[in-house]
Amino acid sequence: MRLHVDGAELEVAPQPGQVLRTLLREHGVTAVKKGCDSGDCGACSVLVDGTPVHACITPAHRLDGATVTTAAGLGTPEDPHPVQRAFADAAAFQCGFCTAGFVVTASTLTEDDHADLHRKLKGNLCRCTGYRAIEDALAGVRNTCTPTTGDAVGTSVAAPAAMRIVTGREEYTLDVRKTEALLHVAVLGSPRPHARITAIDVTDAEALPGVHAVLTHHDDPGVLFSTGRHESRLDDPDDTRVFDRVLRFRGQRVAAVVADSVRIAEQACEHIRVEYEVLPSVHDPDAARAPGAPLLHGDKTTDEHRIAEPGRNVVAAFHDETGDVEAALAASAATVEGEWTTGRVSHAALETHATRGWFDDDGRLVLRTSTQVPFLVRDEIARVFGLDPERVRVLAKRVGGGFGGKQEMLTEDLVTLAVLRTGRTVQYEYARRDEFTIAPTRHPMRVRVRLGATADGVLTALHVDETMDTGAYGNHGIGVMFHSVSESVAVYRCAAKRVDAESVYTNNLPGGAFRGYGLGQVVFAIESAMDELARRLGIDPFTMRRRNVIVPGDPLVVTDPDEESDLHFDGSYGLDQCIDLVEDALRTGPDTAARDALVPRMDGPALDPASGDWAFGSGMALAAIATLPPRGHHAHATVALTPEGRYRIGVGTAEFGNGTTTVHAQLVATALGTTPDRVDIHQSDTDAARHDTGAFGSAGVVVAGKALYAAALDLREAMTARALDVVAARTPRTASGILGPSVSVEPDGVRIGHEFVSAAELLADGPLVAHGHHDGTPRSVAFTVHGIRVAVHGPTGEVRILQSVQAVDAGTVMNPEQLRGQVEGGTAQAIGSSLYEEVVLDDTGRVTTDSFRNYRVPKISDVPRTEVVFAVTHDPLGPLGAKSMSEAPYNPVAPAVANAVRDAIGVRPHRLPMTRDRVWALANGEAG
Ligand code: FES
Ligand code: FES
Repeated sequence: MRLHVDGAELEVAPQPGQVLRTLLREHGVTAVKKGCDSGDCGACSVLVDGTPVHACITPAHRLDGATVTTAAGLGTPEDPHPVQRAFADAAAFQCGFCTAGFVVTASTLTEDDHADLHRKLKGNLCRCTGYRAIEDALAGVRNTCTPTTGDAVGTSVAAPAAMRIVTGREEYTLDVRKTEALLHVAVLGSPRPHARITAIDVTDAEALPGVHAVLTHHDDPGVLFSTGRHESRLDDPDDTRVFDRVLRFRGQRVAAVVADSVRIAEQACEHIRVEYEVLPSVHDPDAARAPGAPLLHGDKTTDEHRIAEPGRNVVAAFHDETGDVEAALAASAATVEGEWTTGRVSHAALETHATRGWFDDDGRLVLRTSTQVPFLVRDEIARVFGLDPERVRVLAKRVGGGFGGKQEMLTEDLVTLAVLRTGRTVQYEYARRDEFTIAPTRHPMRVRVRLGATADGVLTALHVDETMDTGAYGNHGIGVMFHSVSESVAVYRCAAKRVDAESVYTNNLPGGAFRGYGLGQVVFAIESAMDELARRLGIDPFTMRRRNVIVPGDPLVVTDPDEESDLHFDGSYGLDQCIDLVEDALRTGPDTAARDALVPRMDGPALDPASGDWAFGSGMALAAIATLPPRGHHAHATVALTPEGRYRIGVGTAEFGNGTTTVHAQLVATALGTTPDRVDIHQSDTDAARHDTGAFGSAGVVVAGKALYAAALDLREAMTARALDVVAARTPRTASGILGPSVSVEPDGVRIGHEFVSAAELLADGPLVAHGHHDGTPRSVAFTVHGIRVAVHGPTGEVRILQSVQAVDAGTVMNPEQLRGQVEGGTAQAIGSSLYEEVVLDDTGRVTTDSFRNYRVPKISDVPRTEVVFAVTHDPLGPLGAKSMSEAPYNPVAPAVANAVRDAIGVRPHRLPMTRDRVWALANGEAG
């Protein structure tokens, strides 16, 4: 049959049952993305004869003669569709993975549709932006600017990839044409939460036509590792194998088939016969620590495994005290004690985990993968498979969202094994279901907090007792636990502090790195307890915080010595400003009725204060976060002058919507007196730089950015020196006269007085390349304060957010629009996990929320506008005064919402998410 796709004729022969999305991608049409393959996310949106459809649920065989238009067919970077231009001008994307689908749907909107925008766009999800910038695009608001030479930092420069993203041309991980030699992987997962494989027969699977290899524990390289990646691999326990004979959670790899197609590989999985010895399982961390509990890693007892107490299922433990908490509590005028629990949260990045691997012409293994940490993946792949790291190249194209989930090595090891076995190009792509059922989630925690204070609200005692369910493996199970009790505890001045924390193995889905790295869970508990303490003392929450937060000159009292040694906050401190800004915003915000009109709402009861069904309240919470993780974060970077007068930077960090690429271009342009559009970026490739720890811990701006800025300044100096030589050679008698103050680096060369030396002349004596390095220490602290007003509907338990405001201290604001987007996106993600997002497991560890249908992420109609305000500070440790701000906005939102609900209904929520049924129960006296 024939299709007309983006202006070209396509002769196609769909497989029985094939959908349009896979058909298009098989033919190299990569502007159509996969986010779910179930019609829930809109990443695959295309026009069929002018009507927007989800290509993943559109049967291909019905489309003979149809005209299909993707984002790439709507317009080009040089001649974009007006909607594409509007998305670029408004900076209406972060990772951009949703954007091709969004612009396709939006291109069909009429003037009339704008009144009903939320309904028209309800089929398109964006996990990054919080939707405000998308609405701006559709309203024709321009948020970006074109900087002039030398003023790049501090302006809302558009992302370098903007026009490629909006026209569907930006390459993501699997956006390469299918090669004939491409093989696919499908995995057989464990049907049991805890079992030992006693026999496995792959004969029938291997015999199926199109099957190239069946991999089992017999193929395991025999090296223990962790899927969690850090600068030091010793930060995580060695408890994982590529294939293990013991299975510790449902869905864990039992075997994998490498075949000509995903369909054949999946069919072959059904022909693998496995016999299991069923082992007892444990799903609650308290039960897992009890004597006699089944041990998950009881055989891993040496120091090399780095498991604190394998005989108690405890991967990490921390117990420490400053002062005497019990005595301080006993002497306090008021105390608060309570337990707060948080559920599992999925990152739900729209691009799923995926890797394609092959041998290049030199016989080097190449992995093109969706990762935040290419260098750390390369090093661990080389170690696990006994390869020379120089013979392994790992690269990431633009990554379609991460949020910490891609600081994990989930698909690369299996692809490596398959490439080594077959010698062919192999691809392994998670389905959306895999993201919910086998990819790590945010760690669930139970956090007990005890606080004491004097009658005038001065904190006297702070005790945090945390139990963290790390699931079946300890990836990030140590780091998250330590980080969760660091800045959350350090932000308050208090002479008596105690922390008890344990990270516990269970036969549940593993936890992993997630935006905030554990802080969000503990901040929820501490900020809720602080709110309650203020109530008991009759002190308003802002005054209570002012009275107790750290201020410049205070010692930073933390219980983790790793945190204390290199953490500084008094060089750049804007927490006081943030508290003031949020208090002002809540006090002067619009009245209740006006606020309701501002809230996007497609359904639900009208907000009628006179009905008696609604209760109103406000709440606030604060959070601090170190600008990058402890124990080392390194970036090497290069900046080179090209003969065309452009600047080529080599940097290892990945771009997944964090915006570092834009800021890196701004920093280099500022140092070199040029504009960001003259900066070309080669990034996230182990061939692009000597080393980069990776894009996590909000480190992209403050570590790699600082390395790049230093390199750019060095290049400027080198260019100037060489220009002086050129001019001296040109006019030897007058050279000294034209030196002096009028030496300037210009966009494509260097000017000395009246003399101009072009880039080509500067390079006549050889390349000009400068190197920079930054090791990430010492570290600063960034602050966020969130304010919320809610209306709670008693009859249904609905929590409607009427006002949302966040003040942030990010030091120098490098790109205001981008920073605003990070705050809005983090807030939207946090509202989701505050009110409804939860990966639910039954009591045998089976995930019951395995699609976007039953794991709800915020749609455009769910997210209120968040007012974002910036404190004015300058951080002497950061590049040009900047601090990091990718994770921070997430952390204070849930307690602010909870405190507002408490204010409204008089009962305090103790559990996240605050779903309607839970809030209904609280409001109606059925739970406390
Ligand atoms: Fe098609 Fe999600 S709606 S991939
Ligand atoms: Fe929308 Fe990332 S920008 S999903």
